[in-house]
Amino acid sequence: MDDRHIVLPAREAPAAWYNLQADLPEPPLPYLHPGTGKPVTPEDLAPLFPMSLIEQEVSTERWIPIPDPVREKLTIWRPTPLVRARFLEEELGTPARIYYKNEAVSPAGSHKPNSAVAQAYYNARAGIRRLATETGAGQWGSSLAFASQLFGLECTVYMVKVSYQQKPYRRTLMETWGARVVASPSEETSAGRKILAEQPDSTGSLGIAISEAVEVAAGRDDTHYALGSVLNHVCLHQTVVGLEVQKQLALVGETPDVLIGCAGGGSNLAGFAFPFVPDTLAGRGPRLLAAEPTACPSLTRGRFAYDYGDTGGLTPLTPMYTLGHGFVPAGIHAGGLRYHGMSALVSWLRKRGLVEARAYRQREIFEAALLFARCEGILPAPETAHAIRATIEEALRCKETGEEACLVFNLSGHGHFDLAAYQSYLAGDLQDRELADDELARGLDELPRPPQELC
Ligand SMILES: Cc1ncc(COP(=O)(O)O)c(C=O)c1O
Repeated sequence: MDDRHIVLPAREAPAAWYNLQADLPEPPLPYLHPGTGKPVTPEDLAPLFPMSLIEQEVSTERWIPIPDPVREKLTIWRPTPLVRARFLEEELGTPARIYYKNEAVSPAGSHKPNSAVAQAYYNARAGIRRLATETGAGQWGSSLAFASQLFGLECTVYMVKVSYQQKPYRRTLMETWGARVVASPSEETSAGRKILAEQPDSTGSLGIAISEAVEVAAGRDDTHYALGSVLNHVCLHQTVVGLEVQKQLALVGETPDVLIGCAGGGSNLAGFAFPFVPDTLAGRGPRLLAAEPTACPSLTRGRFAYDYGDTGGLTPLTPMYTLGHGFVPAGIHAGGLRYHGMSALVSWLRKRGLVEARAYRQREIFEAALLFARCEGILPAPETAHAIRATIEEALRCKETGEEACLVFNLSGHGHFDLAAYQSYLAGDLQDRELADDELARGLDELPRPPQELC
C-alpha cells in the first residue's frame, strides 16, 4: 500500500450493513398509503417487495448481517479503493487533502450494484422469477440486469426515453446481461399510455418510469419491483461504501472534515455518509455536503412534504424534499439526478440542517469533470461531476483560508457511456438548464391535497 491507493483486503469487507434508523434521535415519519392516507403496512408493500426487504425498510437494528451469497458476489469488485487525488490537489494549489472513494470499478460502473445484488438475492430467495425496474442514466438498470443474471432472474427495465436515446450502449450492456429494455413512457402500461396521450413527445422522467415498473410488478405474482435509490433498504445496502471508507481513512490516520456526494434519490450519499452520521449528530462529525443539478434541485429548492415517489401516484406517500411528483426535469445529461424527490432519511438529515446542499449548472459540472479527468485520469459520470464540482469549491475555500481539511468525495460512477455528453460539452453545444420559478411553483402545486407541509 502507498498513501495514494488505500486498499482493503477482501477479509476486511463489511460483514453487516449499518442502519442509520437505529441512531436517529426521533424516528422518521412513516410512509402513507396512497389510497387511505394511513401508514403503510408490510402487507401493503408485499406485492412489490420480498418480506426481508420490507423488514429492512423499517428496521431499527443498528447492524444487519449481509448474507454470505451477497458478500460473495460483492467480492467481484469490492472492497473498492480509496484514492488520494494528489494531482488534483497540486493543480488547485490547495492545502486540503482530497480523497475519493472509487465506486466506478463495479461491473456496471457505479455504486448501484451494491444494492442490486442484495435485492436480486432476496427476491430470488423468495421465489420471484422476474424483476421490473426503472433506470435514468442506465446505471441502475445495468446494475439490476447484472445482479438478476447472477441470481437467475429475468429483468425488465423501463429506461427514461431521453437516456434511451442519449445512451444506446447502456441499453446494449443491459441486454448483454439478459435484460429487456423498454423506452419510457411506453405503450406497455396504462401509466405510460396516459402520459403519451397527454404529451406524445414526452422525454420521460424517473417518476414516470417508476410508475410503469410498479404497475407491471403489482399486476403479476411472479414479478417484483426493485428501486435503485430513495428507499431505506437501498440506502442501507449502500453503507458498505462508507464502512469501507472509515477503515481506509483510519489506515492512513485521517479523520474526514467534509464528505461530499451527488444526490439524485440520495442512496450514494447515504451509503457513503450514514456511517459517519452518529459523529455528526454528536457534534464532532464531518460536514455532509450534497451536490445536485440546478435543473432538478429537490434539496435546495424543493419543499419538505408528503409526496408520491412516482408520477402516477401509485407508490406510498413519502416524507421528503420534493419538486412535485408531476415535475419533469429538463433533459440534462446527469440522468441519474433527474428525480423529483429525495430519500426520506437524507431529507430527515437535511431538514435538521445536518446535510448541506448546493446546486450546479451543467456546464460548470462538466468543467469540473474535465479538470478531474485531466489531473486524475478517470472520466467521471455527469452525476459524479456534481460532487467533484463541490469538492473543488471546498478545496479552493481551503486555499483561501489556509485550512488543511480532509475532503472525501464519492466517485459514484464513471462516464464511459456518457461520451456523447462530453462531446457536446467539448463542442460548446451544452446548454445550462435552470428551473424557472413558475415551473417550480407548478410542480409544488400538484402536491397531494391538502398539501402536507411538514415541520
Ligand atoms: C453515477 C451515478 N451517480 C449518482 C447517481 C445518483 O444516485 P442516488 O440516487 O443514489 O443519489 C446515479 C444515479 O443513477 C448515478 O448513475
